[in-house]
Amino acid sequence: MVASLRPAADDGRLVEDAPGLRLREVFTQFWPALRPLRGWLALGLVLLAVAPLIGIAEILLFERLVDDVLVPADFGPLPFIAGLYIGLNVLSAVVSGADDYLSTWVSQRFLVQLRTDTFRHVLSLPLHVREQRRLGDVLSRLTSDIGSVEAFMVRHLANGLGAVIRLVFFVAALFWLQWELALASMVVVPVFWFVSTRLARFVQDLSRERARRGGSLGSVAEEAISTAPLVQAYNREDRAVAAFHRQTRGIAEAALASSRVRSAFVPLVDLAELIGILCVITLGTWALATDRLTIGGLLAFLTLMSQCYRPIRELNDLVPSLFSATAGAERVVELLRESPVAEHPEAHDLDQPRGEVVFDEVSVRYPGAGRDALRHVSLTAAPGEVVAVVGPSGAGKSTLARLLTRQVEATSGQVRIDGHDLGRLTIRSSREAVSLVLQEMLLLDTSVHDNVAFARPDASAAEVEEAARAADADSFIRELPDGYGTRIGQRGRSLSGGQRQRLSLARALLRGSPVLVLDEPTTGLDPESARRVLAPLRAAARDRTVLLITHDPVAVEFADRVVRLEAGAVQPDPVEPPPALCTDLAGSPR
Ligand SMILES: Nc1ncnc2c1ncn2[C@@H]1O[C@H](COP(=O)(O)OP(=O)(O)OP(=O)(O)O)[C@@H](O)[C@H]1O
Ligand SMILES: [Mg+2]
Repeated sequence: MVASLRPAADDGRLVEDAPGLRLREVFTQFWPALRPLRGWLALGLVLLAVAPLIGIAEILLFERLVDDVLVPADFGPLPFIAGLYIGLNVLSAVVSGADDYLSTWVSQRFLVQLRTDTFRHVLSLPLHVREQRRLGDVLSRLTSDIGSVEAFMVRHLANGLGAVIRLVFFVAALFWLQWELALASMVVVPVFWFVSTRLARFVQDLSRERARRGGSLGSVAEEAISTAPLVQAYNREDRAVAAFHRQTRGIAEAALASSRVRSAFVPLVDLAELIGILCVITLGTWALATDRLTIGGLLAFLTLMSQCYRPIRELNDLVPSLFSATAGAERVVELLRESPVAEHPEAHDLDQPRGEVVFDEVSVRYPGAGRDALRHVSLTAAPGEVVAVVGPSGAGKSTLARLLTRQVEATSGQVRIDGHDLGRLTIRSSREAVSLVLQEMLLLDTSVHDNVAFARPDASAAEVEEAARAADADSFIRELPDGYGTRIGQRGRSLSGGQRQRLSLARALLRGSPVLVLDEPTTGLDPESARRVLAPLRAAARDRTVLLITHDPVAVEFADRVVRLEAGAVQPDPVEPPPALCTDLAGSPR
């Protein structure tokens, strides 16, 4: 056996502890989500209260059975008592079945709602918050940790209340039967109390460890699987497996340690129970001798008393279970307390946008960054224009695109669309006005048609094809095995880089928004393919504002104006694109 109760503190902890919460804080955090179900909860409580009453009735019936049938050996009252027994049994089965189903139903409803809300919340978080968190950790919070919240709010609390109700009834019945014996049986209560509070403290630490390891395990797996080609190419499988193993072992050690803690305390509880029973038997013998109690009464008392220990044990386990569920709940609360992209309280919709974009002295600093990613950037782009933004890596080009899609907020200055301050527009309507072709092309594992129609799910097949033609994607799509119905694999793995770009462009064009932002659309393409990706832009720019973020000299040929960014600032002398190339390659003379 390992000597210490706590798991070895090896490192390889990838996920930080969430801030600790008190039981009451967990409850108040999640009560609003449970409130709509309170009617059903109340019904559950009624069922919980009926069950012990049936139990007590059965025990009293047992007393009658001993004293009126068994002791006098008289058959007379037996059929009546037997009939009552059967009746109570059926009633008890109905009540406990209904209670079981109801509590499962309530917990599942609560889980579905909470999971959906948390998922929606995660999607509303700004970019930098999502980037700080490891994906695997977020997934583990959405799945297993939310399960802990349900356990806390519904299962454990309902069990606890049920135990309290049963205990109150049973103890009342004990005192009613014979108060001196009842007092004697209570001598063990302090032992139970001591054990449960001690146990709780250990279990809470261990559960936190376990929940965090669960998050780390998810992160390790997610990272290794999503970077599998890299891991394989560099023969780093062993390292990934070792990290995975370390986290799984961490979980196992925490589980073992909590089992050791429990088993150290269980004999204490058993001993306390035994002492209680012995006390009652001693006093009971005296009560029998002095005719204060019949034999049936004593047996009923002992049965009731053993029934009492069950809820006491349950309450005893409840405290550690609540603490253990708190460990998961803390991780969910931490996620829920991240604020989503803020919307101005008086935000208004952007109606019929034309697409004039103005950056006015905009500065951006990412949270925790040492310097501004953009410094007093001013630039204008009007409908009908293709404005290229060039500059070295890290200059802040993608940050411009993130500003327009409200992934980051300007620290100072203003971004305007058609003269409206972006910060005062509803997030939905301002995002509707801007279509972004991302630097890291994001395609979904569905058909080509669905990938394009992602922009507008109600678009007809003809509209999708038209957008594909405008993005010069139609011809290659038709050569795919199933044309527009071809599934393109996760992140579009079965397509070439240029094809993926054209598909992303088709998606952006289908949306028909007045501002089109392309972030490095030609990365990794040879000049010929780059021109194929960019050629459709000239036509698209006729009724749109196009912001073309690029390193690529080829891309610059397609621009009306070039803005140069360096270290977050616009450089004074704009580079004019070579005029000859503009007419030749763009296809539409200007
Ligand atoms: N989420 C983030 N948190 C903190 N800093 C960031 C974040 N994203 C970008 N930065 C920093 O902001 C600066 C500008 O980044 P940005 O992605 O806009 O550059 P870029 O011009 O698009 O570069 P590239 O050409 O390599 O794509 C960089 O110094 C970068 O380190
Ligand atoms: Mg970039």
